[in-house]
Amino acid sequence: MIRLDARLRAAFDLLQGAKAVADIGCDHGKLAAALLLEGGCERVVAGDISPDCLNKARRLLEERGLSDRAQVRLGSGLSILLPGECDAGAILGMGGELIAELLAASEDVAAQMERLVLQPMSGIEELRQWLYENRFCVLADRLVTEKQRTYQIFCVRKAKARDPWPQGFPEGCFLVGYRAFSDREPGLFAYCQAQLYKRADRLKQAQGTGGEEKLQREIEQLQTILEGIEAWN
Ligand SMILES: C[S@@+](CC[C@H](N)C(=O)[O-])C[C@H]1O[C@@H](n2cnc3c(N)ncnc32)[C@H](O)[C@@H]1O
Repeated sequence: MIRLDARLRAAFDLLQGAKAVADIGCDHGKLAAALLLEGGCERVVAGDISPDCLNKARRLLEERGLSDRAQVRLGSGLSILLPGECDAGAILGMGGELIAELLAASEDVAAQMERLVLQPMSGIEELRQWLYENRFCVLADRLVTEKQRTYQIFCVRKAKARDPWPQGFPEGCFLVGYRAFSDREPGLFAYCQAQLYKRADRLKQAQGTGGEEKLQREIEQLQTILEGIEAWN
């Protein structure tokens, strides 16, 4: 049994049913090992740009007797894969802008995956916008809290058309997931409220600066989402 924190557990759950998974930026290798041991996964490719991180994953996979079903590969993003080699991928714990760059650099690989589970540490808005503009539809969208920090973690797939914009969700808003809104994700109200307070606080310091307009727009978007959630019941 591999001990996964709530963030990795959510990724594990979103990858259920996948037979060949690529864990990009695998670091410790826990997700890859858990998928092989308990996730019904037949094969994993664990990739990382850092040889030291890759060695951690290699060690764990060897210790658990999983080396025959796991390949560890050194390299950047999805460039370590051939198109169609894995039916699912995970890119967790990196900046959102970097994740978008990695997907753009290997669009042929990303487009052939049935699902990609993503968890940006920052640049969430930029990543979500890139995914929307590049026709990745959102299959599932979760909020997970671990050690008092809430993470957005979502599952996407390349589609023929862009996702329709859900009714009641502010058009062009990528601060939180429109799929989390349409699926009534528990915790979305508290998360949006916290984001709203943070921005209201920042706005006080930003009066008369270039950032004021953006903060004002984001506050209005969050207010619209909160009003939409209040109308759920
Ligand atoms: C914060 S760790 C996250 C580890 C693990 N995915 C998790 O979420 O617990 C980020 C990992 O991404 C790796 N990384 C950074 N840039 C990368 C890239 N371009 N391609 C592959 N791995 C990368 C780092 O070496 C590091 O191991």
